[in-house]
Formats: sequence, C-alpha cells, structure tokens
Amino acid sequence: MNTTHHTSERPLALVTGASGGIGYQLALLFARDGYDLVATGRSDKIHRIAADFEQHGARVFPVQADLAEREGVRTVWQAVQDTGRPLRAAVLNAGRSIGGAFLDTDLDDELDLIALNTTSVVSLAKPVVRHMAEHGRGRILITSSISALTPTPYETVYGPTRAFTYSFAESLRQELKERAPGVTVTALLPGATDSDFHANAGMSNTSLGPGAKKNSRVEVAAQGFRALMAGKHHVVGGDLATKLTALVNRILPEPFKAARQARVTRPRDTGRPAAPHREPAAPGR
Ligand SMILES: NC(=O)c1ccc[n+]([C@@H]2O[C@H](COP(=O)([O-])OP(=O)(O)OC[C@H]3O[C@@H](n4cnc5c(N)ncnc54)[C@H](OP(=O)(O)O)[C@@H]3O)[C@@H](O)[C@H]2O)c1
Repeated sequence: MNTTHHTSERPLALVTGASGGIGYQLALLFARDGYDLVATGRSDKIHRIAADFEQHGARVFPVQADLAEREGVRTVWQAVQDTGRPLRAAVLNAGRSIGGAFLDTDLDDELDLIALNTTSVVSLAKPVVRHMAEHGRGRILITSSISALTPTPYETVYGPTRAFTYSFAESLRQELKERAPGVTVTALLPGATDSDFHANAGMSNTSLGPGAKKNSRVEVAAQGFRALMAGKHHVVGGDLATKLTALVNRILPEPFKAARQARVTRPRDTGRPAAPHREPAAPGR
C-alpha cells in the first residue's frame, strides 16, 4: 500500500466492482481526482489492481467480498468504518448478468444474481445514506443499465434487476433531497460496454459476443463520474446511438422492444448459454 502521498484531507470514496470494467475506470477517476478508495471485488484480483489506483496518489483499502452474500456486504461496510473517515462518495456498481433462455438457466444462479444486483445495493445503501446524512454531505452513484428501459429476453432476470436499481436511485434521490439535501444520488445507465460482462454472463454466442460494437468503458465511466459530480439524477452512458436508444425506449411498446432485444441476446446455436468464463470463487469467503 502506498502511503507516500496520503494526507487525511483526501476525501474517501467506496467503489464496488472496482476490479474490472466500468468500476475499475470509475475508481481510476476517483484516484486521479484526489480521492482515497475502498475498492471492492469478488476475486483476489482486487488486491493486485489496488496498485493501479495507488499510482495516482490514492491510499487504497482493497476488499475482497462476495456481495451476493449478506456477510460480504457487512465486510465491505466494516472496511469503510475501519478507515475511521467520512465517506464522501459511494459507487454501488458491482453486478452481473446471466444469458440464455429462462427455460434452461439455473435458478440458484439467478437468485444469486438478484442478491448481487438488487439486495446488495439496498443493503449497502442503508449504512451509506445514514452515514452521509449524518455528515451532511455525500455523493452516491448507482449503476443501472439501459436494460432498465426495455424487456430483456434471454437475460430475463438481469433487466428487471437494473430497472430496480434505476427506480431505487431516483426514489432515494427524492427522499434525500427532502431529508438530507447535501446527499445526492445519481443513476448510471450504460449501454452495451466493452468489459468482461457479456463473456461472464455466458453471452459469447450472441450478437454481444466477441467483435460486437460496444461503448468504451473509459467513456461510460467518465460520463458517470461527471454526472455524479454535477449532482445529476441520471445519465445514459455511451455514444449518441446509445442515448437515442434510451430516449426512444421510453415511448416504444414493450412487445416491440422485447422482440428487438431478443434478436441481439438470443444464443445463436442451441438456444443455450455458452459456459461462463468466471474466475473461481476464492476459498473462505
Ligand atoms: N458491460 C455492459 O455492457 C453493461 C451495460 C449496462 C450496465 N452494466 C452494469 O455495469 C456494472 C459493472 O459491469 P461491468 O461491465 O464493469 O462488468 P465486469 O467487467 O464483469 O465487472 C464486474 C465487477 O463486479 C465484480 N463482481 C462480480 N460479481 C460479484 C460479486 N458476487 N460480489 C462482489 N463483486 C462482484 C467483479 O469482481 P471480480 O473481477 O473480482 O469478479 C468486477 O469488479 C454492472 O452492475 C452491470 O450491470 C454493464
């Protein structure tokens, strides 16, 4: 851990899912902007990646925890408390999807996904908002998806979890405006983005597999960071086409969007998902 540049004046940010993809880019932006970081990931990769943030002068508290489990959420919040410092920003970003037909997919896996994508966000938001309200200030970024604005066949459980986080963020924002005006909530709705997300979801055999045109995770994270710092209620992350898709999705009928989405997410061959490429869970979590 690099303590060379550390002063206790540096603000502290929590970023979940900081070991890869959009969360990693967000954590980099915080480090460059002068924040120290509680950076979390599911695998032990988070410990190796901490050095990338330290290079930008951040003091990093890496936490390996499975947020699909209550214990993982407790571990993460404990790590924030252990710093003994006020939390100025929180990015609730860790999430995943599962591709394939609901007829074929595994229920336990889907319940695990729901626990990660929704339950962990609520469970972590609770101590975060109370802490920030007590300190009278703070910024919260909650990662949703443009999948919140359309049915998501062949990711049938994933889309609803992102609709949940979008609505949760907008609802919480209004409450905090009334009860804790110094605390803002921003939702980030990325379009398809270049990360390990679709491979991890077993979607390599769909139109979102290798070679698919996706948004840059650097750009998506930058848009999310800017919206957070500007206190906006939400931002669609991605290029102009992504933003237009989000816009028209607000008025198009659900069956039309469902059929269009299925063309993108339907597995090409058997209708069954490809084997996911996930790092094995670390022992003792
Ligand atoms: N990529 C897209 O196309 C896209 C589009 C819209 C929305 N999003 C949303 O953006 C967020 C980040 O996705 P991404 O594209 O950056 O995905 P990613 O590259 O797969 O990164 C996912 C991050 O979440 C962590 N994570 C996964 N399962 C976890 C668990 N059970 N407990 C704790 N941490 C866990 C991973 O840790 P390890 O590296 O240690 O596994 C990693 O840091 C997700 O909420 C996703 O829904 C993504």
